[in-house]
Amino acid sequence: MDMIQKPKGTKDLLPEDSYKWQFVERKVAKVLENYGFKEIRVPVFEYTELFQRGVGETTDVVQKEMYTFDDKGGRSITLRPEGTAGAVRAYLENGMASKPSPVKLYYNMAMYRYENVQKGRLREFHQIGAELIGSSSYLADVDTILMAKSIFNTLNIPNIKLNINSIGCPKCRSEYQKKLREFIGKNLDSYCDTCKTRFEKNPMRILDCKEKKCKELNVGAPMMIDYLCEECKEHFENVKSALSSANVEFEIDSSIVRGLDYYTKTVFEFIDDKTGLTVLGGGRYDGLVEEFGGAPTPAVGFATGVERVMELFEATNEQVQENVPDLYIVSCGDKENIKAIEIAKNLRKAGVYVEKDIMERSFKAQFKYADKLNCKNVIVIGEDELTSGKVKVKNMATGEEVEAELAPEAIINIIK
Ligand code: HAM
Repeated sequence: MDMIQKPKGTKDLLPEDSYKWQFVERKVAKVLENYGFKEIRVPVFEYTELFQRGVGETTDVVQKEMYTFDDKGGRSITLRPEGTAGAVRAYLENGMASKPSPVKLYYNMAMYRYENVQKGRLREFHQIGAELIGSSSYLADVDTILMAKSIFNTLNIPNIKLNINSIGCPKCRSEYQKKLREFIGKNLDSYCDTCKTRFEKNPMRILDCKEKKCKELNVGAPMMIDYLCEECKEHFENVKSALSSANVEFEIDSSIVRGLDYYTKTVFEFIDDKTGLTVLGGGRYDGLVEEFGGAPTPAVGFATGVERVMELFEATNEQVQENVPDLYIVSCGDKENIKAIEIAKNLRKAGVYVEKDIMERSFKAQFKYADKLNCKNVIVIGEDELTSGKVKVKNMATGEEVEAELAPEAIINIIK
């Protein structure tokens, strides 16, 4: 019979890799927690409308990439393509708006986008993201960017470039959009069909088009950064000078528009210099809470692609040590096996990682297996040990043997 394979664009995370993921996930969580962020988990699926309204009808994510289906009750459901919309919905739905401001949330969740699969681009992928809800100050942008940067520092990932831009607010954007339509309008016929549909509703999205032809036509287009209102300009100046004072290197990339509609003012991307892949993206989104029915509430956040981070982490870091058993208990015979069960149970209860025979293998085969597992220590429970109540604890690295009582406390004292 044919074996069924995993769907295109998905990955299995195997035991030989999962411990590295856990290591990285813990390190990143610690960075975020040190900034006061607390974990939130939201549903894998939401009503489709949430993303249509939040991420934006004219974005690639909503127009082309969502996993959307009707459930048996006839409601349109979508697998989350990103985390911000769900986090903000949960913030409002659970009354977090009445908590002391700002509310700081982080998540580590799988996301789903029907994309062209290629290196670094999957259909099921993972993001660790952070959302800081309730501050309009440039200080929130700066803290968020510093926090994002420390993720890469903590993981010893070098050569990550920070690019920032400001894409203004609805106030300054209308003037800009007029200018942009004038520019694009001259060649509108030559743009792709998707761009044509975006011309009236959201011409800025045309700047984000991946089509070669459209990219060429976009060269020389007016940039949002040249049309910022006084407030947006001042905000951006403050962000830039605070980053410089904090010795954070960055470049201004006025071509960053981001692929999601909710952004306002500061946007930023962390790019891997070697591959050019964006490993982390984010920005301010001052209109989203209100868009979802809440009071006007400013916010800023980011998300990092865990698969992309893992790739860089593994390329540049020494091997993370996998957890190996503290002790292997070799035993043969009914009484001996019962003793092994008891000793293992108590040691595990005390926090020791214990492996023991559950295959009824021979002594020799058990030793071989213990060796394969790289166990730090081995004890043998045989007839002699049962009679004498003593056991030899063998340190596998040094070969040294130490005699102890055949009791959990005595064994712990030697192996710890
Ligand atoms: P995003 O730029 O769409 O932003 O995604 C953030 C990161 O997720 C990307 O920089 C990339 O590393 C990773 N990523 C995106 N798509 C894929 C994919 N198909 N395969 C692998 N990795 C991918 C957001 O999603 C926003 N919600 C971030 C945010 C939070 N902004 C404010 N708060």
